[in-house]
Amino acid sequence: MWNQTSLAGKRILVTAGGDGIGLEIARAFVAAGSKVLVCDIQPESLERLAKSLPDVHSCIADVSSEEDVAAMFKLVDHKLGGLDVLVNNAGIAGPTGGVETLSLADWERTLAVNLTGQFLCVRQAVPRLRKGRDPSIINLASAAGHLGMPGRAPYSASKWGVVGLTKTLAIELGRDGIRVNAILPGAVDGPRIQAVIAAKAKALGKPVEEVTRAYTTQAALGRMVTTRDIANMVLFAASDLAGNVTGQELVVDGHTQALS
Ligand SMILES: NC(=O)c1ccc[n+]([C@@H]2O[C@H](COP(=O)([O-])OP(=O)(O)OC[C@H]3O[C@@H](n4cnc5c(N)ncnc54)[C@H](O)[C@@H]3O)[C@@H](O)[C@H]2O)c1
Repeated sequence: MWNQTSLAGKRILVTAGGDGIGLEIARAFVAAGSKVLVCDIQPESLERLAKSLPDVHSCIADVSSEEDVAAMFKLVDHKLGGLDVLVNNAGIAGPTGGVETLSLADWERTLAVNLTGQFLCVRQAVPRLRKGRDPSIINLASAAGHLGMPGRAPYSASKWGVVGLTKTLAIELGRDGIRVNAILPGAVDGPRIQAVIAAKAKALGKPVEEVTRAYTTQAALGRMVTTRDIANMVLFAASDLAGNVTGQELVVDGHTQALS
């Protein structure tokens, strides 16, 4: 039972917690008795969150903006009184298409949110985590962060960057007792993957059903993973059960050896 672990009372920041995987992570931490603050760029998502999880603090912040991130951490100090766990969850799918069709603006935006956003949050978090209880950083990467992903060069490159950042920080921050791990989800069932599949089908000129089948069968288990599967791994990595786990690629993908 998660609420019997060290998570009760822990102070958690989840970026992009208004929807999707981040929302499920926030929900799971609340159920474990943690104190949670989330950010998002969608005001409507945060309004819905305030109704469903009234104890969760929230703010509008784009993780790729240095100013937004600085303001968010001031709120962390004010509302949580410190920080024990940073969950760098914000990440965008980026464009789909052969590399010669991609724009520089799309490439740069994908790296800005997925990689620079994590750097900006880590830079603010570290001095606070040094004073935290069993502190850790959990970076959302992707199965595309250790495999190639045709048609998704900016996304895959950004997520390999996340894995490199994670492994480096685990060494750098180990002496401060701060654990740093990456979580690598496979295809997660939900609206985002439907949009990704539709974009891929369009780019390849194939029926959506065919691309959906490829996404479903690429895992050894023959199914997509769920937001709950990812939240479970985040809670494990943040808890004392993972007290000696750092610098790891924690893969939650039903064993996927190649991405479609
Ligand atoms: N969904 C998948 O299949 C999948 C697979 C592997 C990895 N991931 C990774 O998991 C993480 C969460 O993915 P998801 O599917 O929940 O995403 P999502 O597209 O559903 O977005 C979740 C939330 O992120 C917010 N957001 C977008 N850009 C932001 C920004 N710049 N700053 C702050 N918030 C922002 C959105 O408003 C939304 O509420 C991402 O890092 C993603 O790359 C997802």
